[in-house]
Amino acid sequence: MAEGRFITFEGIDGSGKSTQARLLAERLRAEGQEIVLTREPGGSPGAEEIRQLLLTGDPERWSAETEILLFTAARRDHLEKTILPALTEGKTVVSDRFADSTRVYQGATRGDLRGTVDKLHALMIGREPDLTFVIDMDPEQALKRGLARKSGEDRFEDFGLGFQETLRHGFLALCHDYPKRCVLVDGNRDAAAIATEIAEIVGDT
Ligand code: ADP
Ligand code: TYD
Repeated sequence: MAEGRFITFEGIDGSGKSTQARLLAERLRAEGQEIVLTREPGGSPGAEEIRQLLLTGDPERWSAETEILLFTAARRDHLEKTILPALTEGKTVVSDRFADSTRVYQGATRGDLRGTVDKLHALMIGREPDLTFVIDMDPEQALKRGLARKSGEDRFEDFGLGFQETLRHGFLALCHDYPKRCVLVDGNRDAAAIATEIAEIVGDT
């Protein structure tokens, strides 16, 4: 059986990733495809436990280095237990965030730790998505949307607007680094219009 496709959504907090991942999964299911919709950090029982450690509490709770280890541990479990089994069964996996988030959040915001992120990724994950949608939007608008949710998992939103602006540039740079799999999408539009564009790209590739 042919391996399934691995599609990820990336972008700053509140940019609309979860919404678009869900809309894409719904569309593909309506076409009769078998879809696993998942997210990071999390996506497997063990990784969801690690998620709680990462997303709640004091913003200064973990150093960037410790975060790299925790996110990578969560990703390894997610890959072993959820992503790879589904791909092997020929299912399409749609994930709200994956390794690009670590490259940008931990690799480029608190000193240059990108080399460390890349080494650990090569050692422990070694897998890239087939297609990545990077949703770009104004950090001020995105922050308003994100904080309006009051999810209780706002540790990263709590770093503030300057942090989100640095992240935005990190995600734009990522599209330059990985032009074959990354597609930049304008997130400053209504959700249905964005979903239509994304579905067309998925259909064409
Ligand atoms: P993310 O997963 O990137 O944090 P979400 O998809 O959870 O973003 O969206 C954040 C908030 O913004 C949610 O309340 C969602 O309903 C809303 N939202 C998502 N996409 C749009 C859009 N295109 N226009 C306006 N609001 C949106
Ligand atoms: P998420 O639940 O996607 O938050 P949001 O809906 O606000 O975008 O992700 C949780 C937070 O974890 C988010 O602020 C980004 C951060 N994160 C990292 O810092 N590194 C990572 O590797 C991942 C996957 C997420």
